[in-house]
Amino acid sequence: MKLHDKVVLVTGAARGIGWELVQALAQAGARVALCDLTQADVDAAAARLALAPEKVLALRADVTSERDVSELFSRILKKFSRVDVVVNNAGFAWPRGGPVNLELADTPLDVWQKVLDTNLTGTFLCSRAALKVMRAQGGGSIVNISSPQGKKGKLLRGPYSAAKFGVEGLTQVLALENAAHNIRANCLDPGGIVATEAIRNIPGNRGLRMLSPAVVRDCAVYLASDESVGVTGQSFVAPEWNQDHGLAVPYMVA
Ligand SMILES: NC(=O)c1ccc[n+]([C@@H]2O[C@H](COP(=O)([O-])OP(=O)(O)OC[C@H]3O[C@@H](n4cnc5c(N)ncnc54)[C@H](O)[C@@H]3O)[C@@H](O)[C@H]2O)c1
Repeated sequence: MKLHDKVVLVTGAARGIGWELVQALAQAGARVALCDLTQADVDAAAARLALAPEKVLALRADVTSERDVSELFSRILKKFSRVDVVVNNAGFAWPRGGPVNLELADTPLDVWQKVLDTNLTGTFLCSRAALKVMRAQGGGSIVNISSPQGKKGKLLRGPYSAAKFGVEGLTQVLALENAAHNIRANCLDPGGIVATEAIRNIPGNRGLRMLSPAVVRDCAVYLASDESVGVTGQSFVAPEWNQDHGLAVPYMVA
């Protein structure tokens, strides 16, 4: 198996793309740590994986909190003694339950900060914690979930575009600064609108054809595994990656 016994952390793993990622990585043989905002949600996701207890760890952590991230990595090290792969997935275009589709002219500071904190600062905090472990153990792979809005600004996505452009830049610097430590950092962009539950629940989205969350699976396993040794500082677009590798691009009706 491509990820036999590798230790992988997926943030925001309880649902959506994070849930898809953690399933794919576990099915490829990884030992997995899941984190999300509530213990009940990560426990439920871990139970759905139906793995042997020694292969799974479910932890509550808010990736925007330095203290939570520190505790998260301590708990992972206590159980697995290493961290080979970190997938920074926790993120959103607009805070759950908050206002959506605002122009920058109308964006309150607290909304701006929440989007930047989760998508960008969370990725920084988890990457920084990962570097400490990965440098000491001699290597690792960091996979940052990006977005088409991380390469091209989109109307009514001001904070999100700024955050995901930031994630792309952060990833390039992580790659440059850590190549000598055998630590790779790459972005994985799902490549379009993905039919997660949150997206499907947006009024008007039901019945539309969107990418299936499964689109990220194969590229994520590739970036996590030794198959991608030497690949760093790049941004992969999942549907393009699938096509380049002769795989179908999965769609579903939201
Ligand atoms: N769905 C899409 O169309 C799409 C497209 C491109 C990129 N993305 C990116 O994919 C990633 C996942 O998106 P999704 O659509 O699956 O979202 P989602 O809302 O379905 O899932 C996100 C998960 O992250 C968790 N989370 C949120 N804030 C957190 C925090 N501070 N700490 C820990 N966990 C936290 C949530 O509780 C949730 O379980 C995000 O980075 C998003 O920007 C999504």
